[in-house]
Amino acid sequence: MFIWGLITPIVLLTEVATGRVTSEGFGIGDCEDLEDGFDCYGDISRLWGPYSPYFAVDGHESTELGDDCKVTFVQLLSRHGARYPTKGSGEQLRAVVTRIQQDAKDFSRDAEFLKNFQYELGSDDLTEFGQQEMYASGLKFFLRYEELAKDSDPFIRVSGQKRVVDSGSFFTRGFNDGRKKRGKPILPWNPLTIPEGETWNNTLDHGICRKYEEGPSTEIGPQAQAEFAATFTGELIEKLSVDIQGIELTPKDAIALMTMCPFHTVASPSATTLSPFCRMFNESDFENFDYYQSLGKYYGYGPGNPLGPAQGIGFVNELIARLTKSIVNDTTSTNHTLDSNPATFPVDKDIYLDFSHDNTMVGILSSLNLFKNLPPLKNNTRSIDPLGRSFSASKLVPFASRMYVEKLKCESHEEELVRVIVNDRLMNLQGCDEAAYGACKLHEFVESLKWARDGGNWNECE
Ligand SMILES: *[C@@H]1O[C@H](CO)[C@@H](O)[C@H](O)[C@H]1NC(C)=O
Ligand SMILES: *[C@@H]1O[C@H](CO)[C@@H](O)[C@H](O)[C@H]1NC(C)=O
Ligand SMILES: *[C@@H]1O[C@H](CO)[C@@H](O)[C@H](O)[C@H]1NC(C)=O
Ligand SMILES: *[C@@H]1O[C@H](CO)[C@@H](O)[C@H](O)[C@H]1NC(C)=O
Repeated sequence: MFIWGLITPIVLLTEVATGRVTSEGFGIGDCEDLEDGFDCYGDISRLWGPYSPYFAVDGHESTELGDDCKVTFVQLLSRHGARYPTKGSGEQLRAVVTRIQQDAKDFSRDAEFLKNFQYELGSDDLTEFGQQEMYASGLKFFLRYEELAKDSDPFIRVSGQKRVVDSGSFFTRGFNDGRKKRGKPILPWNPLTIPEGETWNNTLDHGICRKYEEGPSTEIGPQAQAEFAATFTGELIEKLSVDIQGIELTPKDAIALMTMCPFHTVASPSATTLSPFCRMFNESDFENFDYYQSLGKYYGYGPGNPLGPAQGIGFVNELIARLTKSIVNDTTSTNHTLDSNPATFPVDKDIYLDFSHDNTMVGILSSLNLFKNLPPLKNNTRSIDPLGRSFSASKLVPFASRMYVEKLKCESHEEELVRVIVNDRLMNLQGCDEAAYGACKLHEFVESLKWARDGGNWNECE
């Protein structure tokens, strides 16, 4: 655990206010913009699916409020920052690289570097850049919600894996640097940590829907991906075989080489060095890669999986309890011991900070009905909604992604309003009418979540 104030970021508030921030010591890296997120290699780094570094999704309605409304409540749900490959996937990546190195007769041009490349990535944990992303996220959050955040006492929960715990702690450090600059007392780092695994009810990490974890549902995502991979890896392999000579590459090999691009890049200091793996591919290859990753999430944990959204119900019911300051009514993945105790589940706060994982977040976003009116993603061709509303993993759950659920108090309405913002993009709420600024009336929003309130199809998990 780090010690507060040991490494002080040299971030001046004037710099913070004007956008781009670079700092010596700990702080925000050279490729990170406080407002826009990661802004190097934007033509491809936003096409890395869930391995994209967070970026502000633009081209949508502004989330700015007029003087007639103020934010009275915010729930953050954050993914951890950039990490190394998980242990299992890292071993596969290393094995593919090693086999190609052993079997290929020769390497040329853009693949030349592979001859002497050594796989030295860590596993599972945040990279240094991932720490910086979370720091920036905390500082940005503080500045966005400053009126609320300067005196408020947020309640923090983290899912128990190290990278998620560390993400919460770096976020809090950024948040506190905002507070310190305003001369406000810092928030102590003392989160509620909820363990992961199949014996723990944890709304921030899936695991107890056993029919999902052990059944055929886990295969739906990979099947959709394999079907789509068959449509684009043929030409890609032909191209790769020009520079990697004398070896038969499989679709899986090609995708592993592409996956090395984001992971090797986010492992470089501040992610400023684009990995040479990236140069073996063009933009259209990455568009396919991005869509391939979206399919994995959509059919793995999203609306395309019969048991995906079910795994987000517990969190949605907790959110309803917090929004309405009432007790949690849920019989899915919540832990009743925790949620019935005000010390571990207070409902009187105005800021809640929760730290989680991409897969669980996809289930939660789905359970919030955010994708209800979108056509399903096709497996055999890249189907993109021209309005940019399609389910996209890089826009929804990149590294350090964040959902803000805000309650607003507006002059024009007696009742409080609710809206949902994902990576700076105002989401279209389904099943309730917009009252102002993309927000619905609180009671209508809660009504629109009937599926989750009724326990959805959780019974199919057991
Ligand atoms: C619920 O939380 C309590 C308190 O932390 C813990 O002792 C218990 O093991 C948890 N149960 C489940 C099923 O997660
Ligand atoms: C990108 O590479 C693919 C093969 O992977 C090829 O079919 C396509 O023509 C290339 N696009 C451009 C613009 O070079
Ligand atoms: C954990 O979740 C299961 C499944 O919904 C439920 O039966 C059990 O009572 C929960 N345990 C606790 C401690 O909340
Ligand atoms: C809890 O939810 C169930 C299912 O929607 C509902 O029937 C019940 O009335 C709710 N209980 C309370 C106390 O709100």
